[in-house]
Amino acid sequence: MRISGKTVVITGGAKGIGATAARAFCEQGAQVAIIDFDEKAGEALAQQLHAEGNDAAFFKADVSDEQDVDSAAQAIAEQFGTVDILVNNAGITMDAMTLKMDVSTFKRVLDVNVTGVFNCTKAFLPGMVEAGAGRIISTSSIAGTGGNVGQANYAASKAAIIGMTKTWAKEFGPKGITVNAVAPGFIETEMIESIPEKVIAQIRQLTPFPRFGRPEDIANAYLFLASDQASFINGTVLEVDGGMLK
Ligand code: NAI
Repeated sequence: MRISGKTVVITGGAKGIGATAARAFCEQGAQVAIIDFDEKAGEALAQQLHAEGNDAAFFKADVSDEQDVDSAAQAIAEQFGTVDILVNNAGITMDAMTLKMDVSTFKRVLDVNVTGVFNCTKAFLPGMVEAGAGRIISTSSIAGTGGNVGQANYAASKAAIIGMTKTWAKEFGPKGITVNAVAPGFIETEMIESIPEKVIAQIRQLTPFPRFGRPEDIANAYLFLASDQASFINGTVLEVDGGMLK
């Protein structure tokens, strides 16, 4: 894969899938800017990657806050120049059955998962437009394509990402920028630690593959969509879920 020398921004890159992706892009020779609001984990990862000889740095921002994102984008531009690849990976869940979900819980998930993707895309697009090239990859979910009990807010946010991806593919494809989404299935990270054992057993039954997904599976999808080999893939949603029945 030809990613060497490219600059990539990974949001939510301090932990979980994002951290695995940060390492994977470093291994391919990319310069990696990690955006996250978890300063401790983000700094620790960036320092570790740096100590291993990679060009990686951490920038603190809450993706739902436009000013925060713009300040981080400014700092990234000063350190790395134009960003070639943006991975909108940051996301949260705040699950509850709809009748028990208050509107603030609904809105917070949309703020991070939807407005966060909007803020970051707007911040890094101008450089890509100027360069006449770029890659935007956003993380949706099988909850966004198929819905999920107790996740009205999360499913809405992940479906919105698909809508934005398809819109931006049309808006920015003519400028040489591809925009795609990855829809992970059940991936073993901190995010799924709170899922009850009963639900895990159900997911196991629905997955026609002998293991659950790993962060590496999603990082590999990001790498592929960012590579030269994917240059004509635009506006697609790549499902990485072991063939999970929806
Ligand atoms: P995680 O919870 O392990 O990591 C998420 C990262 O995003 C953390 O480092 C966190 O600090 C950061 N983050 C959260 N809110 C933020 C904000 N407002 N501003 C900046 N950073 C913020 O989650 P995981 O599992 O690595 O998920 C990554 C992406 O994959 C998310 O978009 C998630 O919705 C999606 N996904 C995960 C699945 C799974 O099974 N783990 C399944 C489907 C989608």
